[in-house]
Formats: sequence, C-alpha cells, structure tokens
Amino acid sequence: LANGLAITPPMGWNTYNHYSCSPNEAIVQSNAQALVDLGLLAKGYNFVTVDCGWTLPARLANGSITWSPTLFPSGYFALGQFLHARGLKFGVYSDSGIQMCMTGSPTQVGSLGHEQADALTFASWGADMIKFDNCYSEASAGYPDTDFTPPTSPSARFANMSAAIAATGRPIVYAICEWGVDFPSAWAPTIGNSWRIGNDIIPSFGTVARILNQAISQTSFAGPGHWLDLDMLEVGNNVFTAAEEQTHFTMWAIVKSPLIIGGRLSDTAGSITSSSLNILLNSDVIGYNQDSLGVAASFVRRFTSAGYEIWSGPLSGSRTVVAVINLSNVATSLTLNLPDVGFQKAASVKNIWNAATSTNVLTSYTGSVAAHGTMLLELSGTTVAGTYVVADAVTSGTTTT
Ligand code: DGJ
Repeated sequence: LANGLAITPPMGWNTYNHYSCSPNEAIVQSNAQALVDLGLLAKGYNFVTVDCGWTLPARLANGSITWSPTLFPSGYFALGQFLHARGLKFGVYSDSGIQMCMTGSPTQVGSLGHEQADALTFASWGADMIKFDNCYSEASAGYPDTDFTPPTSPSARFANMSAAIAATGRPIVYAICEWGVDFPSAWAPTIGNSWRIGNDIIPSFGTVARILNQAISQTSFAGPGHWLDLDMLEVGNNVFTAAEEQTHFTMWAIVKSPLIIGGRLSDTAGSITSSSLNILLNSDVIGYNQDSLGVAASFVRRFTSAGYEIWSGPLSGSRTVVAVINLSNVATSLTLNLPDVGFQKAASVKNIWNAATSTNVLTSYTGSVAAHGTMLLELSGTTVAGTYVVADAVTSGTTTT
C-alpha cells in the first residue's frame, strides 16, 4: 500500500500467541514495558497490538465500538498514551465480519458495515496499526458463520477498511489478516501494508515448514510498503528448541515478514529466557529483515533425501543472504555449494548463528547445523573480478566464469 508506511517490515509484539483472546491492561503494559527494558524497542520492535478479546460484547448506544472496562479499566485512549509515552506504537485489532474470532458467547462485534466509524474511532485513540481479521464474514442470513469460511472473496471487505483508514488522515499501518483464503498476494499489495498468507502458526515446528511452503510461490509479491505476513513469532513461548527458534526467526526475517513477537516477554508469571531474547535481538538478522533493498529471499532448492533446503536473497551493499535449513531430526554437517546461489566464490562468508567468518571461500562452504537448525550465511565479495576455473561434475568439463 503506497501510504508511505512500512517501508521496511513492521516489528513489534502482539498478545495473541501467548495470551490467546484473553488480554488485559496489566498484561499489555508489562510486555510493552519489557520491549523497552529488554532493548527490543531500540532494535526496532515498536508496535504493540492487542489482539482479540478486548471489546465489549455490544456496541454503545451510539453505534461506537468500545473496550471492555473490566479488562482495560484505564481505557484504550489511555493505553495508546501509555505506549506513545514510551516511544511505542499502538496496534488495534478488529474483524472484517460481524464478530471477532474465537469470542463465542458473549460475542464481540466485528467491523462489517461499520468500517468508516470504527477506523475513525481507532484513529481517535491514537492507533498506529490496524490488524483486520476474517472471521464471521458471511454477509447474508444465517449468522453466525460458525464454519469461519468466507463464501465470497474477502477483497472487497478488506478494501473497504483500507479506504476507511485512509479517510481518517492518520498514518496507520494496515495489516490484512485473511489467512491466504483467496490468494491475497494478488490483491492485497495495493490496499494493505501486509497480508497473512496462511492459517495461524501453532506451537509445533511443522507449522514453520508449512508456512514456508506457502511462501515459496509468493515471495516476489513482497516489497517496500507491502509484505507477506508469515504470522506472529513463537520465539519465547518455550515451544521450540533454540535451533528451531533460530530457523523460525531467520526465515521470517529474510522473507521480509513483519517480525511481531508472540512470546511472553514479561508478566507476573515469568519472563522470556535469555536464549530466546538473544535470538530476537540479533542485529544481523534484524538487519536482513530491515534491509533497504526490501527484496524477500526466495526458495532455491530442496535436497529431499539429504534433508535440507536452501533459500537466498539479495541485500544492499552487494551482499547476499543464504539460509540452509536442516530439515532432519539430527545434527549434521551441511555444505552450501556456492553455484547453487549463483556464485563461484565469496570474498567473505559470515556464519551468523555460529559467529564465524571465513574469507576467500571457493565453490563451497560447510558448517555444522543442529537438528531443525539453520546455517545462516551472509556472502559478500561475490562479484570480485577474476577468473576461476571449476570442475563441473555434471558435464565432466570445466566452467570458466
Ligand atoms: C485468527 C488470526 O489469524 C490470528 O492471528 C488471531 O488474530 C486470531 N484470529 C484471534 O482469534
């Protein structure tokens, strides 16, 4: 969406992955404060979005949507002020149907038919992002649409909210959450700043592979102002191993997904572990996500029997980022053949998670990778002038480049 926002992928925190549809003021405030105190805001994580579960079951008599005073006693305007006072930005959640998701009984109202009024309301509270979901969206008789399956293209409903947000005049990032139902990559880039490409991430490592598979055919649709949303991060929820968290974070970052933390940072029950925190704070990986070139890494090839796959993408400064994912359940040594990503030689190869740098790397690079881990490499000097003669195993000849 050409609204001048999200020139690099949005970064922040959202209540849903850890607290489901049960947010409250104390939870939001303690996690928001943790963004500041743990150094995450300084790295760019600035949006705080309260997902489902924040409203009253019904609109006010004047038709306005409003917060639950039980859950948010200070109110949503004050919550926006709390966040803004700390240099954070305020994300508000609503839905393109008649109810929000997972709210059962009592229900929570959605924005269908109230887009303009609700966008103005959210703007008046200081919203800087609107996440717009896709539940209960059947605009016909038979509410509620309990199968959660929109029978018609959602594009019109999501376009209505896009226009309503623009009409507020406030800079608001628009995060489309349509779950990839109707191939939003085809229509969302012009009306939204990001769009979900699939169903929700769940606390199982297989979900990471599933979402990446869905991204393979769509990475070319991403660019400044319009990003593929691979869903919120599970890093910090103690559901993946450290290596799995590295893979998850690496891939979301280089595919240029918004980096929205879904783990608990801090509340009365505990805090994020230093292992998970250090993954989220990795400056190199964040730098790949926020790179000024704004090109999503793409899938290169999968070695099915050997159990690994390669993704790569260009970065500013004539650098290339490469991820070699160990899909197997055992630690192993993996070799990247540089021609697989288009090169014969790299002046330097920086191995991010192993914290090692090699220089003058010819034809291949080998490193150890934990089960489900990722060898994340930054290649530079790949276009050095010169002639390299390399044996070509396929043709039995030689290739001169
Ligand atoms: C479905 C969305 O995809 C999730 O991210 C979350 O917002 C839930 N709805 C809330 O119920």
